[in-house]
Amino acid sequence: MFSIEINSLSKSYGSFTAVDGIDLKVESGKIFGFLGPNGAGKTTTMKMLTTLIPPSSGTMNILGIDGTKSPLEIRKKIGVVLQQPSYEPTLSVEKSLEKYGMMWNVEKKIRKNRVEELLVAFDLVDIRKKKNDDLSIGQRRRVQVAREFMHDMELLFLDEPTVGLDPSARRSLLDFIKSKVKDGLTIFFTTHILEEAEYLCDDIAIINKGKIIAVDTPDELKNKFGRQKTIKIHVGTQQNISSLLSNIENCTIEHDSGVVITIHSGQSEQVLQDVLKILASNHIPVEDLSVVPTSLEEIFLSVVKNSNESNNSPGQ
Ligand SMILES: Nc1ncnc2c1ncn2[C@@H]1O[C@H](COP(=O)(O)OP(=O)(O)O)[C@@H](O)[C@H]1O
Ligand SMILES: [Mg+2]
Repeated sequence: MFSIEINSLSKSYGSFTAVDGIDLKVESGKIFGFLGPNGAGKTTTMKMLTTLIPPSSGTMNILGIDGTKSPLEIRKKIGVVLQQPSYEPTLSVEKSLEKYGMMWNVEKKIRKNRVEELLVAFDLVDIRKKKNDDLSIGQRRRVQVAREFMHDMELLFLDEPTVGLDPSARRSLLDFIKSKVKDGLTIFFTTHILEEAEYLCDDIAIINKGKIIAVDTPDELKNKFGRQKTIKIHVGTQQNISSLLSNIENCTIEHDSGVVITIHSGQSEQVLQDVLKILASNHIPVEDLSVVPTSLEEIFLSVVKNSNESNNSPGQ
């Protein structure tokens, strides 16, 4: 079963297309990561899916409801934490949670219990009496995310919820989200940090310039691109090595700093043999050598870079 199904969804502002015909399916009970650099169209997509702005074209079905026909029906069933801060300056932390629960008509006894549960889960107990105005940015963000869990929902949208959080708060938030998904919640989660998506998400879509450029599980993304290895070779002389290596296939070679050669390749063993042969026959000593798997972060950057290049190429 799918909680979200969208077909050729687009949003344009004048002649500028912020989201350009995207298709997506999000399975119920899973965490879906929506990953992309700043300006990619993540927030715009989220605003359409949460019925805050209407699409320019395309269709969307949220929890079995037609998104353009019955937006209010959808809003009753979802939770949304937007990217921009939202808080009442003079309200205390505990009152913020309490008030949010009242807004959603949560019964008093359940409300009280949830406030206590969330104060603990989001590490807010010590500051429960503090006013929002007196909190740090990270504390405010924690309150903003925590209060969304005051009400029942089937589907939760989180737009870069961890921005401004320190590493330990970030990790506890991600773990809290994981525990809620075990209880049956579906989550649509945007981030520009790949590591986070990898830790949290069952499926990941990568969006760049309004277009989806990859959809897969974190493991499959790694399989597809993860044969890539980075080879670093320190050589003992500063001569121009690039030209000697220019005929080696199946790799990209960077050689800027004189003594370090960096090579990216999906066929690292063959490439390494070829390089070492050439260095030896030219009497260039190798002082140090390492081969490491290209990180997912590098994969993400290279996928985005490739899509930028193919967009810019003539004829497209
Ligand atoms: N209301 C708007 N009017 C015009 N352009 C907008 C508006 N909202 C967003 N954009 C543009 O759409 C693009 C995508 O923005 P956004 O969805 O916020 O990206 P992300 O959340 O991935 O950083 C950006 O270039 C942004 O400047
Ligand atoms: Mg955004």
